[in-house]
Amino acid sequence: MYFKQILNERCGCASYLIASRESGDAAIVDPAIETEQYEALLSERGFHLRYVIDTHVHADHVSGARRLAAAHGAALCLHESAKVIYAFQPLKDGEEIALGQLRLRVLHTPGHRPELISLLVVNPPRSPEPSMVLTGDSLLVGDVGRPDFGGGDAVAQYGSLNRLLRLPDWVAVFPGHFEGPCGKGMCGRPSTTIGFERLFNPLARLDYDPFIATLNDGIPARPLNMTAIEPTNRGVMDAPWAMLTSTPDIPVVEIAAVENRMPATLLLDVREPEEYAHGHVPGARNLPQAELAARLDEVPRDRPVQVICQSGYRSLRAAQFLAQMGYQNVVNVNGGTAAWRASDWPLEAGETGAGAPRVIETAWAHAGGTYVI
Ligand SMILES: [Fe+2]
Repeated sequence: MYFKQILNERCGCASYLIASRESGDAAIVDPAIETEQYEALLSERGFHLRYVIDTHVHADHVSGARRLAAAHGAALCLHESAKVIYAFQPLKDGEEIALGQLRLRVLHTPGHRPELISLLVVNPPRSPEPSMVLTGDSLLVGDVGRPDFGGGDAVAQYGSLNRLLRLPDWVAVFPGHFEGPCGKGMCGRPSTTIGFERLFNPLARLDYDPFIATLNDGIPARPLNMTAIEPTNRGVMDAPWAMLTSTPDIPVVEIAAVENRMPATLLLDVREPEEYAHGHVPGARNLPQAELAARLDEVPRDRPVQVICQSGYRSLRAAQFLAQMGYQNVVNVNGGTAAWRASDWPLEAGETGAGAPRVIETAWAHAGGTYVI
């Protein structure tokens, strides 16, 4: 067999090329929108792409599945419950996909999303037992996928996690994310084993009630441009440009220099509405980062834009996206609303401190900086 994990550092995603070296039949799982990397591998190896499989409808990055499948006449596969408006080959729990001698066995493992599937990889000449499982965003390394955006639910995630943990110890786990917003506490390794996760995944050690409470705890900081990316992946919107695909340098402005001179300068707060309502820099306008692309026409191009969040990470990515979209005069407010608060300047609309909403953010290192989105 042939197996390659392809890591996308920009979005913290993993995709996979699996093939039979004997027959040359190949499948690609969870491809990124930049499909050139898969094209190069397929042609170098002389593989024939038969299946392109999305483990679920992604909310944080635009999938390259439709583009790849169309280019190769391959079957585009999703779980049968996927609510997309384009044609696809519906996969059922227990179904097997053949790639030469290899078998990909479908496990429906909802929770992060209702349609999420895992794929057990079986290579019968070596063993009748599975050697690997691709888990999408169900079981992650040291974590599980978040149920709090995109219609998931914690109860289903509990069942899916425990189903996966019944696999043999030796089964290698390859997740859909190694970093990024789809989990709350990923370890950062790109793979693990069922045995290790059963022993050391903090969520695997929780009983039902604390598991549900842990997964439902906090307000999600939804991914950048989620309200454009997720509909694009369902086919009801066409906004592949909503992906942040560049890392332009963004000037920084210190909190003491934030000028609230609306309408001459727009101070754009990209936190979630609950955070904004709890306390924001006076005059800041709220446009959550998840909605930035879908509501881009609300951001004027004729005046400077200062982007602010809680600590400066979400705002950096939002500012980079605005620059990618041609905004000429965008700066990032260093230290964000927390720096304003630390300076003892008054916040509008509420006190902060003990009752502040707990917002679930995910940090990861990328291109010279740590981002929290
Ligand atoms: Fe996901």
